[in-house]
Amino acid sequence: MATYDRFSTTFRKLSRKLLRTNTAAAVPACRAERADAMKDPLLQTRRLELRRFTEADIPELVRLIGAREVAANTLRIPHPYTADDAREFLDGHRARPDFAFAIVLRIQRRLIGGIGLHPETQHQRAELGYWVGVPYWGKGYATEAAQAVVRYGFDQLGLNRIFASHFRQNPASGKVLKKLGMRHEGRMRQHVLKWGEFMDIELYSILREEVAGRK
Ligand SMILES: CC(C)(COP(=O)(O)OP(=O)(O)OC[C@H]1O[C@@H](n2cnc3c(N)ncnc32)[C@H](O)[C@@H]1OP(=O)(O)O)[C@@H](O)C(=O)NCCC(=O)NCCS
Repeated sequence: MATYDRFSTTFRKLSRKLLRTNTAAAVPACRAERADAMKDPLLQTRRLELRRFTEADIPELVRLIGAREVAANTLRIPHPYTADDAREFLDGHRARPDFAFAIVLRIQRRLIGGIGLHPETQHQRAELGYWVGVPYWGKGYATEAAQAVVRYGFDQLGLNRIFASHFRQNPASGKVLKKLGMRHEGRMRQHVLKWGEFMDIELYSILREEVAGRK
């Protein structure tokens, strides 16, 4: 955790420096807005709002992320998932604010999932992770949220590389990553042991220069 905190602090310094010099339209106009964006980033898409998790999210968070289908396809989500797990998750973010967002339907104000960037500062790269509650699968929400977060990572955090991985048995996640314009970099065979089974991992990434090239 100490290592993460150091990365996180350096990363925020780097991000502030980049925000001072970045003139892209996505960057909030005045200095106060820029500071707020770093402290409490809030992103909006056509149907979604990405904001920080709060205590009030705990019951729905436990219900959605507690589904076996969600835990089965992720590495770090405990199963079964309890309110204490949710509190630990929230405390972790308070202690070391990182770039984790609740995915919320804008109109219904309903929590439907989570998404985050896990920075590795010295390499100006971050790992993208996400999940969507089972009742909301197949409506393009993961793709819509991930597009906004990838843009945020390049435009506002100044990242050079964003990468992600999924279990080979989880083609829906591979589809999301391809729709982001990520490239498949390869398969790590039997790379992790999940619930007693060795799992192949598919690795994807996108570079800043590739996004810039598409603009
Ligand atoms: C992976 C996950 C985030 C996708 O969320 P989602 O909101 O349903 O994703 P989207 O609707 O944006 O896109 C899913 C795509 O996968 C496709 N898909 C779904 N099941 C599929 C399957 N079995 N095989 C191939 N493609 C599949 C969908 O058709 C859709 O593609 P389309 O838009 O071209 O039709 C969601 O299933 C989930 O949370 N799973 C559990 C946690 C997880 O896997 N997290 C990612 C860890 S790497």
